[in-house]
Amino acid sequence: MKDLLRLRTSLSEEIETLLNEQIKVEAYSSSLYLAMSSWCNRNGYDNSAGYLERQSGEEREHMLKLFRYINDLGGKAISPEVTNIPQEFDSFKGIFELALQQEIQVTSNFNRISDRCQKANDYVTLQFLQWFLKEQIEEEYVARRILELFDIIGEEGTGRWQIDKQIPKVSYGDEGGED
Ligand code: FEO
Repeated sequence: MKDLLRLRTSLSEEIETLLNEQIKVEAYSSSLYLAMSSWCNRNGYDNSAGYLERQSGEEREHMLKLFRYINDLGGKAISPEVTNIPQEFDSFKGIFELALQQEIQVTSNFNRISDRCQKANDYVTLQFLQWFLKEQIEEEYVARRILELFDIIGEEGTGRWQIDKQIPKVSYGDEGGED
Protein backbone atom coordinates (compact mmCIF):
# COMPACT_ATOMS: atom_id res chain seq x y z
CA MET A 1 0.00 0.00 0.00
CA LYS A 2 2.84 2.32 0.87
CA ASP A 3 4.47 1.64 -2.51
CA LEU A 4 1.22 2.38 -4.21
CA LEU A 5 1.02 5.69 -2.40
CA ARG A 6 4.53 6.50 -3.57
CA LEU A 7 3.08 6.46 -7.07
CA ARG A 8 0.63 9.14 -6.02
CA THR A 9 2.11 11.78 -8.29
CA SER A 10 2.03 11.95 -12.04
CA LEU A 11 4.90 14.40 -11.92
CA SER A 12 8.22 12.94 -12.91
CA GLU A 13 11.08 13.51 -10.53
CA GLU A 14 12.80 15.70 -13.09
CA ILE A 15 9.80 18.01 -13.57
CA GLU A 16 9.11 18.16 -9.85
CA THR A 17 12.72 19.22 -9.26
CA LEU A 18 12.57 21.86 -11.99
CA LEU A 19 9.34 23.27 -10.55
CA ASN A 20 10.82 23.35 -7.06
CA GLU A 21 13.85 25.17 -8.43
CA GLN A 22 11.52 27.71 -10.02
CA ILE A 23 9.72 28.16 -6.68
CA LYS A 24 13.09 29.25 -5.33
CA VAL A 25 13.65 31.66 -8.22
CA GLU A 26 10.22 33.24 -7.67
CA ALA A 27 10.94 33.55 -3.95
CA TYR A 28 14.28 35.16 -4.81
CA SER A 29 12.50 37.60 -7.15
CA SER A 30 10.03 38.44 -4.39
CA SER A 31 12.81 39.19 -1.90
CA LEU A 32 14.86 41.05 -4.50
CA TYR A 33 11.93 43.34 -5.34
CA LEU A 34 11.35 43.96 -1.66
CA ALA A 35 15.00 44.95 -1.17
CA MET A 36 14.68 47.26 -4.18
CA SER A 37 11.53 48.73 -2.65
CA SER A 38 13.40 49.50 0.56
CA TRP A 39 16.28 51.14 -1.35
CA CYS A 40 13.82 53.31 -3.30
CA ASN A 41 12.06 54.29 -0.11
CA ARG A 42 15.35 55.26 1.57
CA ASN A 43 16.38 57.31 -1.44
CA GLY A 44 13.15 59.27 -1.82
CA TYR A 45 11.53 57.34 -4.68
CA ASP A 46 8.28 56.61 -2.90
CA ASN A 47 6.17 55.72 -5.93
CA SER A 48 8.73 53.21 -7.13
CA ALA A 49 8.96 51.81 -3.61
CA GLY A 50 5.21 51.13 -3.67
CA TYR A 51 5.37 49.65 -7.16
CA LEU A 52 8.24 47.32 -6.23
CA GLU A 53 6.49 46.24 -3.03
CA ARG A 54 3.44 45.24 -5.07
CA GLN A 55 5.71 43.49 -7.55
CA SER A 56 7.26 41.57 -4.67
CA GLY A 57 3.77 40.41 -3.69
CA GLU A 58 3.10 39.24 -7.25
CA GLU A 59 6.27 37.19 -7.25
CA ARG A 60 5.17 35.54 -4.04
CA GLU A 61 1.87 34.69 -5.75
CA HIS A 62 3.82 33.14 -8.64
CA MET A 63 5.78 31.11 -6.12
CA LEU A 64 2.58 29.91 -4.44
CA LYS A 65 0.98 28.98 -7.75
CA LEU A 66 3.87 26.61 -8.44
CA PHE A 67 3.92 25.44 -4.83
CA ARG A 68 0.22 24.53 -4.83
CA TYR A 69 0.47 22.86 -8.23
CA ILE A 70 3.18 20.45 -7.09
CA ASN A 71 1.25 19.51 -3.96
CA ASP A 72 -2.07 19.29 -5.82
CA LEU A 73 -0.53 16.68 -8.07
CA GLY A 74 0.68 14.70 -5.11
CA GLY A 75 4.27 15.88 -5.29
CA LYS A 76 6.35 17.53 -2.59
CA ALA A 77 6.59 21.29 -2.77
CA ILE A 78 9.65 22.62 -0.99
CA SER A 79 9.48 25.81 1.06
CA PRO A 80 12.47 27.70 -0.39
CA GLU A 81 15.52 29.04 1.37
CA VAL A 82 16.49 32.35 -0.13
CA THR A 83 19.90 33.88 0.46
CA ASN A 84 22.23 36.50 -1.01
CA ILE A 85 19.65 39.19 -1.59
CA PRO A 86 21.45 42.43 -2.41
CA GLN A 87 20.31 45.27 -0.15
CA GLU A 88 22.25 48.06 -1.82
CA PHE A 89 22.03 49.15 -5.45
CA ASP A 90 24.23 51.41 -7.54
CA SER A 91 21.54 53.72 -8.83
CA PHE A 92 17.82 54.26 -9.38
CA LYS A 93 18.15 53.20 -13.02
CA GLY A 94 20.35 50.25 -12.03
CA ILE A 95 17.41 48.83 -10.06
CA PHE A 96 15.23 48.64 -13.14
CA GLU A 97 18.04 47.26 -15.29
CA LEU A 98 18.41 44.48 -12.74
CA ALA A 99 14.64 43.95 -12.70
CA LEU A 100 14.59 43.46 -16.48
CA GLN A 101 17.54 41.10 -16.26
CA GLN A 102 15.71 39.05 -13.62
CA GLU A 103 12.55 38.86 -15.76
CA ILE A 104 14.50 37.75 -18.83
CA GLN A 105 16.07 35.02 -16.72
CA VAL A 106 12.63 33.91 -15.49
CA THR A 107 11.27 33.76 -19.04
CA SER A 108 14.22 31.66 -20.08
CA ASN A 109 13.61 29.32 -17.12
CA PHE A 110 9.97 28.81 -18.09
CA ASN A 111 10.94 28.12 -21.69
CA ARG A 112 13.44 25.55 -20.48
CA ILE A 113 10.94 23.87 -18.14
CA SER A 114 8.31 23.84 -20.91
CA ASP A 115 10.82 22.21 -23.22
CA ARG A 116 11.54 19.52 -20.63
CA CYS A 117 7.79 18.93 -20.13
CA GLN A 118 7.31 18.43 -23.83
CA LYS A 119 10.19 15.96 -24.00
CA ALA A 120 8.80 14.10 -20.97
CA ASN A 121 5.26 14.07 -22.48
CA ASP A 122 4.02 15.97 -19.43
CA TYR A 123 1.26 17.89 -21.18
CA VAL A 124 -0.57 18.61 -17.94
CA THR A 125 2.33 20.67 -16.60
CA LEU A 126 2.96 22.16 -20.02
CA GLN A 127 -0.62 23.42 -20.00
CA PHE A 128 -0.20 24.76 -16.46
CA LEU A 129 2.94 26.66 -17.51
CA GLN A 130 1.08 28.56 -20.24
CA TRP A 131 -0.11 31.06 -17.62
CA PHE A 132 3.47 31.84 -16.62
CA LEU A 133 4.67 32.20 -20.21
CA LYS A 134 1.89 34.69 -20.86
CA GLU A 135 2.63 36.52 -17.63
CA GLN A 136 6.27 36.87 -18.68
CA ILE A 137 5.26 38.81 -21.82
CA GLU A 138 3.68 41.36 -19.48
CA GLU A 139 6.52 41.37 -16.96
CA GLU A 140 9.20 41.95 -19.60
CA TYR A 141 7.09 44.56 -21.38
CA VAL A 142 6.58 46.61 -18.22
CA ALA A 143 10.26 46.32 -17.23
CA ARG A 144 11.34 47.58 -20.69
CA ARG A 145 8.84 50.43 -20.69
CA ILE A 146 10.06 51.57 -17.29
CA LEU A 147 13.66 51.64 -18.55
CA GLU A 148 12.53 53.67 -21.56
CA LEU A 149 11.27 56.35 -19.17
CA PHE A 150 14.88 56.98 -18.17
CA ASP A 151 15.79 57.69 -21.81
CA ILE A 152 12.65 59.65 -22.67
CA ILE A 153 12.47 61.86 -19.57
CA GLY A 154 16.19 61.95 -18.76
CA GLU A 155 17.68 61.93 -15.28
CA GLU A 156 18.84 65.55 -15.06
CA GLY A 157 17.14 68.16 -12.93
CA THR A 158 13.79 66.89 -11.72
CA GLY A 159 13.99 63.96 -14.17
CA ARG A 160 14.28 61.19 -11.59
CA TRP A 161 11.40 62.66 -9.63
CA GLN A 162 9.25 62.63 -12.78
CA ILE A 163 10.32 59.11 -13.68
CA ASP A 164 9.38 57.97 -10.18
CA LYS A 165 5.92 59.46 -10.66
CA GLN A 166 5.40 57.64 -13.96
CA ILE A 167 6.65 54.18 -12.95
CA PRO A 168 3.46 52.94 -11.22
CA LYS A 169 1.44 54.03 -14.28
CA VAL A 170 3.24 51.77 -16.74
CA SER A 171 1.01 48.84 -17.60
CA TYR A 172 0.49 46.22 -20.25
CA GLY A 173 -2.62 45.73 -22.38
CA ASP A 174 -5.75 47.86 -22.49
CA GLU A 175 -5.60 49.07 -18.93
CA GLY A 176 -3.69 52.16 -20.01
CA GLY A 177 -2.59 54.35 -17.18
CA GLU A 178 0.16 56.23 -18.96
CA ASP A 179 -0.31 59.92 -19.45
FE1 FEO B 1 7.49 35.67 -11.46
FE2 FEO B 1 8.41 38.37 -12.54
O1 FEO B 1 8.36 36.54 -12.73
